[in-house]
Amino acid sequence: MSRRLVRALSSKTDGPPFNIHNHIKLCALDVICDERQFYSDVILETGLKWGFTQNDMAVLSKDIYLAGTDATSTTMASCLAFLAMFPEHQKKVYDELFEIFGDSDRDPTLDDLKKMVYLEMCLKEALRHCAPAAITRRLSSDIQIENYHFPKGAMLYFAFYFTHKNPMWWKRPEDFYPDHFSKEAVAKRPKGVFMPFSAGPRGCPGQTFAWLSMKTITSRLIRSYEFHTNMEFEKSRYHVLLVPQIKEGYFVSITNRSNKAHK
Ligand code: HEM
Repeated sequence: MSRRLVRALSSKTDGPPFNIHNHIKLCALDVICDERQFYSDVILETGLKWGFTQNDMAVLSKDIYLAGTDATSTTMASCLAFLAMFPEHQKKVYDELFEIFGDSDRDPTLDDLKKMVYLEMCLKEALRHCAPAAITRRLSSDIQIENYHFPKGAMLYFAFYFTHKNPMWWKRPEDFYPDHFSKEAVAKRPKGVFMPFSAGPRGCPGQTFAWLSMKTITSRLIRSYEFHTNMEFEKSRYHVLLVPQIKEGYFVSITNRSNKAHK
């Protein structure tokens, strides 16, 4: 899939800026539909075997489509746009990838993906800005937390957006600062402060898959192209659809890298 995306973008090299989000969304959809089967065929096949109702299957198809393409594509588009805005971080990501792959255009192995530490820090920092803003839960029993009483049936709203931007936990909350995710910085924060995938039994079941696909796609793109943009981080305005997205889109231009990864 990621090679297909690299080929599709080759006509854009040295051209005017374009919205990378649209291209990445298509690629993210490709990822959840393999060459032979559309993802909803898999749901249908499994659902019939397990006795799901038509409604169960419709809800599941919609969940996987929205959850499987929207958050991942927005995270990747944000990360690439931010790396274009901050070339010093893009260079560090590229150097790390060059260290792993050299001049080879081979596909990454699981072991390679684990070595993409700085890329992961940049994706996490992008996710801090564009993860789902909040989740809700209806209480199935009364809960007492210190002086606060929450009655059974109350709807609680967990606003990740605010924990992800709270200056108590983040050195530069409003900036793109991948060092927020250095080993040392992570060790100093309580675990629940960064929860883009939520947690518990209803937490995101696609988390591992999301990491594998986001690292595979962004690493292939950065090995192939250098990203540039006129967009400015401080001037970006967001609107919240399923996840916060930059209103103006993710306009980048690309130039070829002089290695073989794009061939
Ligand atoms: C960056 C990528 C992603 C982020 C940030 C993300 C985040 C989330 C969050 C916050 C929830 C709500 C959990 C809750 O209510 O506690 C969720 C649910 C869900 N996600 Fe993801 N997700 C991502 C990628 C994916 C992918 C790739 C898939 C599948 C291919 C997926 C499938 C689902 C499904 C099916 C649910 C509903 C789970 C349920 O209701 O029990 N997600 N996701």
